[in-house]
Amino acid sequence: MTFVNSELFPITSDVNENGRLVLGGCDVGDLVSQYGTALLVFDENTLRGICREFVHEFTSRYTNTKVVYASKAYINPALAKIVHEEGLGLDVVSGGELAVAYAAGVDSSFVYFHGNNKAHRELEMALDGSIGRVVIDSFHELAMLDRIAGDRRMVQEVMIRVSPGIDPHTHVKTTTGILDSKFGFSIETGHAASAIRRAIAAPNLDLIGIHFHLGSPIFELEPYDTAINTVMDFLVAFKEEGLNLREFSPGGGFAIGYVRDEPPPPIASYARVITDALKRCTSNLGFGEPTLVIEPGRAIVGRAGVALYTVGAIKDIPTIRKYVSLDGGMGDNIRPALYDSRYEAVLANRMGEVPEETVTLVGKYCESGDYLIKDIELPVLETGDIIAIPSSGAYAPSMASNYNLNPRPAVVMVKDGNARLIRRRETFEDMMLSDVL
Ligand code: LLP
Repeated sequence: MTFVNSELFPITSDVNENGRLVLGGCDVGDLVSQYGTALLVFDENTLRGICREFVHEFTSRYTNTKVVYASKAYINPALAKIVHEEGLGLDVVSGGELAVAYAAGVDSSFVYFHGNNKAHRELEMALDGSIGRVVIDSFHELAMLDRIAGDRRMVQEVMIRVSPGIDPHTHVKTTTGILDSKFGFSIETGHAASAIRRAIAAPNLDLIGIHFHLGSPIFELEPYDTAINTVMDFLVAFKEEGLNLREFSPGGGFAIGYVRDEPPPPIASYARVITDALKRCTSNLGFGEPTLVIEPGRAIVGRAGVALYTVGAIKDIPTIRKYVSLDGGMGDNIRPALYDSRYEAVLANRMGEVPEETVTLVGKYCESGDYLIKDIELPVLETGDIIAIPSSGAYAPSMASNYNLNPRPAVVMVKDGNARLIRRRETFEDMMLSDVL
């Protein structure tokens, strides 16, 4: 019971008298009957509550903070609308994410465009939509954007993404702020200095701030402090060269709980470390009070999403392993296969039962690496049981694929006992929509 009431599950999670998991007032058994599995359930109160927590924890310490949701964690128009209603901006990394922001009616001046290789047409689309900021990541982009803005006789507000060379001790595949990275202009190589000078000199660009992002998820607080100090120290020299620091962004990377034995720091702790470091640096170095821009992705949607699956085939290899196959897998959550990410699971239709055996939850995809959870203690499972995997709202749905031509799951938003579909289950026809015979 305490587990369902822990920070791994949405805040509205409960167990009803039938022993079934309840999310947002909805019995998961009813959700599964209505929408089928695999199904991703988002709890609206959790989603909105976390948006508010971010805004509160940061603005109460540093009033001039903008919270920008990193939409790569998962976006669709319904979700963008909710996040926008909560006063958050959007960080997009592609024309596709930008199109969703526009479709959802997000205020384009509050959209930040990231990415290490933005296409010409994506930059045109951004400028034609009056995007707020473009975060420049290469010399190629800097020159191209200056030309595109010039063609439109406009001046585009931009930030430069620097790479401070600080390791946040997370998975190598999601580490970004070190020297050997495709992202950002390295301070160490001198590229960051050149980029800042070129941006200041570019006639059609207005350099309003500096950005960095260390990686994701970051369970330690210290890397933020070290990186803010490093970047600010580096920036001092450019004050005389015309750098007017109006915005400063230490990116995102805030961790969430996936498993019980690895709790993340509270949002308040990230807020304290980041705002303390920023205040210290800006006052010591005479930088005024730039707007602080933070970009949480995972931490906004991760906890709000619970994935539901139905147990199918069960294969017991005595003394070796018991495989329990679910009707999803690497197509709707590739994170275990890609990063060895760990998750917890519960038997959602018989919540009162105690764990009795160790099993491995695998998917239905044609790969041995297709697993969701290795070696988890669960009650004895039967075909037809419902498995719920919490903390599934971030990156699992946005990185989903049609591998083996399995349709991607439906997504529902639950609140006060009501469920509404925010993405219908894909059909076979959907998957052939772009094919040409
Ligand atoms: N800002 C920038 C510039 C980023 O590159 C990212 C994430 C974020 C913000 C948001 O980071 P978050 O707050 O969500 O940690 N697919 C991986 C995560 C890749 C993150 C990429 N960039 C995963 O499933 O863990």
